[in-house]
Formats: sequence, C-alpha cells, structure tokens
Amino acid sequence: MNLTIIGSGYVGLTTGACFANVGHHVMCVDNNPDKIAKLLNGEIPIYEPGLEEVVKNTVGAGRLRFTTSTEEGVDFGDVIFIAVPTPPQPDGSVDLRFIEKVAREISEVIKSYKVIVDKSTVPVKTGEKVADTIKRYQPEVAFDVVSNPEFLREGCAVDDLMHPDRIVIGTNSDRALALMQKVYEPFLAPILVTDINSAELIKHAANSFLALKISYINAVSQICEASGADVEKVAEGIGADKRIGRHFLNAGIGYGGSCFPKDIAAFIAISDQLGCPFTLLKEVQAINVNMMQRFLKTIREALWVLDDKKIAVWGLAFKNNTDDIRSSVAIELVQALLKEGAKVTVYDPKGMENAKQLSWAGQITFAESPMGCVDGAEALIVATEWPEFASQDFVEVKRRMLAPLIFDGRNLLDTTTMKDLGFRYTGIGRGVA
Ligand code: UDX
Repeated sequence: MNLTIIGSGYVGLTTGACFANVGHHVMCVDNNPDKIAKLLNGEIPIYEPGLEEVVKNTVGAGRLRFTTSTEEGVDFGDVIFIAVPTPPQPDGSVDLRFIEKVAREISEVIKSYKVIVDKSTVPVKTGEKVADTIKRYQPEVAFDVVSNPEFLREGCAVDDLMHPDRIVIGTNSDRALALMQKVYEPFLAPILVTDINSAELIKHAANSFLALKISYINAVSQICEASGADVEKVAEGIGADKRIGRHFLNAGIGYGGSCFPKDIAAFIAISDQLGCPFTLLKEVQAINVNMMQRFLKTIREALWVLDDKKIAVWGLAFKNNTDDIRSSVAIELVQALLKEGAKVTVYDPKGMENAKQLSWAGQITFAESPMGCVDGAEALIVATEWPEFASQDFVEVKRRMLAPLIFDGRNLLDTTTMKDLGFRYTGIGRGVA
C-alpha cells in the first residue's frame, strides 16, 4: 500500500520506517526542512536501537521517502497518518493546534478518497473535531477519520512496532476499516476494532494505568522504608500474581519522559472537562513528584550540606536505551543538586549530547565514562536504569570515590553486594545497607 505519515518525529519516523519494513511504500512528511534534509542525507535525528538500519534498508529498497510537501504526501498515500506533536498547555490540557493545522492543510489538497488516521496521542473526541474541520473546509471530497493510537516505548520502539501486543483501530466506516486491516495485515497482531472515541480513550487509559502501577509501587516503597520491608521482594510477590503482573512495578525516583507526565495531565484535564474529575490520577502525579523530593531529602540527610560537595550522577536520560532527556527525573535531580550548591559530574551513555544543549549545561561537568564520573566524588547517585551501570567494577568505584556512598534511585544495584564491598548503600524502599 501507499502510506503517508505527516510529522516525522519520534512516532512518525519509526512508524513510517516499520511500515516500509513490512513492504508498504511510505512517504514521511515534515514541515521542518532541516529535518527532511538530514533524513534525505541518511542522518537519523534520534537515537533508537535498530531504527537507523531499518531506515537505511527501506530507503535503499525505494520504499521509504521524505518530503516537506503536504500536497505531495496527501496525493501519494491511500492512508494518511497524522503523527504531529500534541504538547501540553499550562493547565495540563493538550494543545491541539498542530493537529488542527494538519487537518486544514489536508482539506486544502485532498483530491480523492483518503483514510485520515490520528496516530498522535489526543484527548477523546479529537477525531470528531478533525473530521468536522476537514469537512468544513472541503465539503466535496469523501474521506474517513480513524483513531489508531501508538503504544511504542522509546528504547525498544522498533521491536514494539514490529511485534505489537495489539492494534487498536477506531472507526465507524467499513471502507476505512478494510484499508486499515490491510495496512496491519503483515504485522500478524491481534486487531481490536472500536469506535473512534473508545480508541482515543484506550491510549490515555493505558498510559495512565501504567503510571498508576509505578506510583502504586512507589507508595508501597515508602511503607517498606518505614517498616523495614524490601520493596523488591514485595514487587516480586505481588507481581507473581498473573492478574497483577511484574511489569511496571519497579520502584524508583519516578516516571518521566515525553509521554507519561503529559498524558496523565491530559487525561485529568479531559476528564475534568467531561465533568468526571479523575482524582485518582492526581494522587498518581503527587506520588511521582514526591519520590524525587524524598530521594533528595535522603541525600541531604546523609551529606548534611550539599554546597561545594562533589556528587557523581550516573544517568540523564528519562530511562535506559534512549538519548531522550525530556521530562527526565534524572535531569530534575541534577538541577536540584546544583541549586543547593553541589558540584555535579554526570555520565550517561546516550543522553549527554542532548544535555549539553541545555541552557544551564555549563554548570555541570560531563565525564567520559562511569568511572571518570566518580573520581573524587563524595556520593554516587544512580538516576537512570542503564544496565551497564550495574556491571561496573565497584571495587574500583570505591577506590576512586572520596567517600563510599551510593544513592540508587532506580534499585539497579544489589544491596548485599554493595554492603559487602563496604558502601553505604541506599535504594528506594530497601532501607540503608
Ligand atoms: C510509555 C508507554 O510505555 C508506551 O506504551 C507509550 O506509547 C508511550 O509512553 P515510554 O515513555 O517510552 O513509553 O517509556 P516507559 O518504558 O513506559 O517508561 C516511562 C517512565 O517510567 C520512565 O521514566 C521509566 O524509568 C519509568 N518506569 C517504568 C518506572 O519508574 N518503573 C517501572 O516499573 C517502569
């Protein structure tokens, strides 16, 4: 099939590349000429394992191309996917101006029947508005609007796209459904067909539920700390129940990234607008913010004064396997340490280039390795769950540090091992060893 993706950001580019990978012909559109020039030049603007290879192969096979022209894209595709940003507004609701703009642009150039698919994460009822907008500006040409939310995780996006748990298709048109089924046929994944509103809601409800699981175990971790229990054992015990599951029960300094914080705020906002305040999710947010504050307090209590102390931080990305530092708790933590006068040295396997672009980057020292980062440090903080941090030589780490203090914000290290090596080790919900 010929498919068009409007918006070649994280979701758009990876989705387009994976569609091309299964044999479709894909045109990715973006209004940023620099981004398109880079892509045409074979440069991938983001770090995502496996993506570069898929893009290279599919471009080489003539199945993936790029353009800045919406008209060219709309002419090309039988199905047009909208994957533009949906940033948050100050009150948490979603700024839908980019979606609205694309709807208007499509209405200006559409010449024959197209299926227009909302891939961006949007509040329930957005599909209806997209359809109204296109119809208002272009009443002649037939089209259908479909909601098809994306569930990919950064760091394993290609795998998530190639082997999805499920595909959700929200539509009330048989014609559109038949085309969408053809798009997804090669993925051999279960397809759930719903109305548009339900599909939109599934995305917000899924992300909020995952965040709720994280905040739940984080709240439990506080009770573990107060009672001397170990949250890792508790997570194992409750996660072994198939109805609960072990995934997303990793206690830590909280969730971050470009999705969870934004999507939960958006779900709260749309629920408020619909007259059904989702107060449970407000608690999920509050617990998340509190985790970082509690962690800081623990560090402060151990070091007493942070001013002028050299602190090593392992991790900047919002999670492992990505260079993405947007809404990263690790970044917030570094900022908080700097505010208290600490001298912060950081290391992250992929996130440092993005961090160097921050306006306050000059206040931190970027190390070239995890080992270089801990030289002369009075404390080591683990802020991102990169597996390579766990496999460091901790005898050498201890030798290089000024004092053997580790604060593990991701429960990445083993308590007993750290204690046996002579560290004063503090995790989340595990007590102090
Ligand atoms: C998330 C959803 O998982 C994905 O389905 C959706 O499409 C986009 O949002 P992503 O933001 O890429 O994906 O990352 P995810 O792996 O979900 O992690 C989000 C945050 O939660 C990270 O900061 C991570 O460190 C944290 N996390 C995750 C925990 O603190 N504990 C856990 O058990 C799991």
